[in-house]
Amino acid sequence: MKKKGVFSMISVKDLTLEEKITLLCGRDHWHLDTLSGKLPEFTVADGPMGLRHQQIVERDGKPVRVTINDTTAMPATATLASSWDPELAKEVGAAIADECIIHGMDVLLAPGVNIKRSPLCGRNFEYYSEDPYLAGTMARSYIMGVQSKGIGTSLKHFAANNSENDRHHQTSELDERTLREIYTPAFEIALEAEPWTVMCSYNPVNGIYASENPYLLTTLLRDKFGFEGVVVSDWCAVKESARAVKAGLDLEMPFRPEAYEEILAAYKAGYLTEAEIDRAAERILKMIEKVALTKDKRVVSTTPESRHATAVRCVEEGAVLLKNEGNILPLKSGRILVAGFGKRGVPSGGGGSSRIVSEYKQPKLSEALAALLGEGAEVIEDAALYLANKQVGATATLNAAYSADTVVFSIANDDIVEAESWNRKDIRLPREAENALVELTRVNDNVVVVLHTGSAVDVSRFADKVKAILYVGFGGEGATEATARLLTGAVNPSGKLAETFPTSLADTPTAAIRTDAFTDRYEEGVFVGYRYYEKWEKAVAFPFGHGLSYTAFEYSDLTITRADDGAVIEFTVTNTGDVEGKEIAEVYVRDVFSAVSRPVKELKGYEKVSLMPKESKRVSISLPKRAFSYYNTVLGEWYLEDGAFEIHVGASSADIRLVGKIDIRTPKYEHYSSTVLGEGGK
Ligand code: GLC
Repeated sequence: MKKKGVFSMISVKDLTLEEKITLLCGRDHWHLDTLSGKLPEFTVADGPMGLRHQQIVERDGKPVRVTINDTTAMPATATLASSWDPELAKEVGAAIADECIIHGMDVLLAPGVNIKRSPLCGRNFEYYSEDPYLAGTMARSYIMGVQSKGIGTSLKHFAANNSENDRHHQTSELDERTLREIYTPAFEIALEAEPWTVMCSYNPVNGIYASENPYLLTTLLRDKFGFEGVVVSDWCAVKESARAVKAGLDLEMPFRPEAYEEILAAYKAGYLTEAEIDRAAERILKMIEKVALTKDKRVVSTTPESRHATAVRCVEEGAVLLKNEGNILPLKSGRILVAGFGKRGVPSGGGGSSRIVSEYKQPKLSEALAALLGEGAEVIEDAALYLANKQVGATATLNAAYSADTVVFSIANDDIVEAESWNRKDIRLPREAENALVELTRVNDNVVVVLHTGSAVDVSRFADKVKAILYVGFGGEGATEATARLLTGAVNPSGKLAETFPTSLADTPTAAIRTDAFTDRYEEGVFVGYRYYEKWEKAVAFPFGHGLSYTAFEYSDLTITRADDGAVIEFTVTNTGDVEGKEIAEVYVRDVFSAVSRPVKELKGYEKVSLMPKESKRVSISLPKRAFSYYNTVLGEWYLEDGAFEIHVGASSADIRLVGKIDIRTPKYEHYSSTVLGEGGK
C-alpha cells in the first residue's frame, strides 16, 4: 500500500511505446517532457560558474528566451582549479546548487572537465586543467557539493572536446592510449561522485560523432567506467536520434521535431529494439524519480551574502602570484596609481553558455585598495586607461605613473576574446594594453600587473619589465575585492597554476600540428601541458603548479611505504616565514625506465596545507597502483611494469624539493595485475 502523498514512480511498463520515445526527446530548451502530467516537471540549466536561467518573454509578438541576471557570478572554473582545494570546489558547487533550488532547477549542466590541450581553446576558462588528475579530483568535489543539495549535475563534454573552432563537425583523431591516459581519466575520477548525467560532446571522436559513438557511450562510459546515470546530448549535438539511442545516448536536448519520428521509424524498421528504447527511458525515469522523492527535502543553507563571500574566497584561494620581485607585494604605503585596461572593464567570466551577468556592483580596485591600506598610502585611480582608447589617458597616466611609488595595472581579456564556440587566434593580450603597459614600465620601475584572463597568455613582452604579476583569472563578482585583499596581504596568495604559461604560442604542443576543418590529429599524444614541455625540454614562462606566497615553505622527511594497493607517501611541510600561508604540495610519479614513451613525471597527488608561521604539518598521500601504471593498448588495460620509479614532491612541477625511489616487480608467473610495489626509500 503506497503511503499517502508519496510519489508513485512510473516504470517503463506503465508507458506506451510512444510515451517512452517522447521521453527520450526534450520538451523544449530546458525541460523534459512530463507525458501530459504523468511525470513531474524536470528542469535543467547552465552552468559551471553559476546558475544561468532563462524565461520566455514576448518580444514583438514572438516568444524570446531571455537570461535572468539575478544569480551569483562565481569565478571561472580555471580560477577555482588554481586553488587546488577540493573542499572549496564543494562549497562553490553547493552555493550554486542553492540558487538552483531557489529557482526550481533540477540539474545543473556542470562541471566541464575537458583537458586544456591548447591555450587557444575558447572555453579553457570553463575547464580545470591540462592535467587529468587535478581536473578530475576538483570536479569530483564540485559534483559532490552540488548533489549534496539534491540538485543533479552533468559531467561534460564527453569526450575529447578540446577546441571550439569547428566543434560541431571536426573529428578529434587520437589513439587509444592518449584517450585513456589524458582525455578520459578526469571523467573516470569525477564519476566517483556519481553525477546524475554525463553530457556527450559535439565533436566526432575518430570519425564517429560523440552522440552516437558506442565506444564512448557504452564500452567506456558504461562497461569500463560503470556509469549508471543518464547520458544527455550537448545541445543540438545529435545528428540522428536512432543511431544515438543505439550507441547509448538516453536523452536528446533540446527538443528537435524530427527526433521522435527518427526513433519510431527505426523501431518499426527493426533497427532499434524496444529493449533499447526501454533502457534509455528507464534511466530517465530513475532520474526523475530521484528528484520527485527529494525535491521537497531540499534546503537552502546559503544567503546572497554568503554566496558572494564564497565567490570572493574562491579568487583569494585561486589567484596565482606568478612573480613578486623584491617582495614589492604586499602593498603597504606610498603613492599607488591604479590604472588598467579592459575594453569592457574587469570581466566576470568568459563568453557563452556559462556566462553569468551578476547584478552585484563590484567596487573599483582603487576603492577596495584605499579601504584596506592605512594612512601611509595614497591611492590614485586613473580611469582613462579603462577606456578603449588609450590615447585619451596615456599622457595623463604616464605623468601620474612617473610620480607614483607603485603602479597597479590591470589587463583583461574579455568575454568576446575568450568564449565558447571559437578559439583565440593567439595568446597575446590586447596589443594596446601591452603597449600601454610597456610605456608604464618606462616611467616607473615598480609596476604590478593584475591579469584577468581565462587561460594562459603570452607575457613575454612585459614579464621581465614588471616587478609583480598576480593572475586572478576571470574572477566573477568578487574579483576586485579579492584582488585588493591579495595585493595588500589581507590574505596571502596560495593558488598555483593548473595550466602552464608557455613562453609563446609557437612553443605549445599543438602549434606545429596541421589540422583542417574536419580533422584535428592529436599528434602530440600523451604529451600535453607540462608533460610536453618537460619531455621535450622546452622552457616555459611559468610552469604547471607554480605559485608564490608572502611566506616560504620547506619540505622534509619523505618516507615511502608499501600499502595493499600501492604506496603511501609521507613528508613534512614547514612554514619558515613570518606570516601564515597555505602551501599546495604536489606529488609526481616518474617511471625511470619504461618500455613505452612516457612523460617525465605525472601528477598523482596533492594537498593544500594551511600553516601558521614556523608551523609544520605531516602530509600523507596514498598512491594506488594505477598511479604508477600506463594504459597498455596490447593488454587493453592499465599496466604496471617492473622497474625503478621515483616519487617527486614539490612546490611546482619545476620546483621539486624531495625525491624518493620505489622498486616495482611482478611475481614470477603472475599476471601483470598482481604486480606489487617494492619497499620505498630515499
Ligand atoms: C552549449 C554547451 C553546453 C551547455 C549547453 C546548454 O552548447 O556546449 O556546455 O550546457 O549547450 O546551454
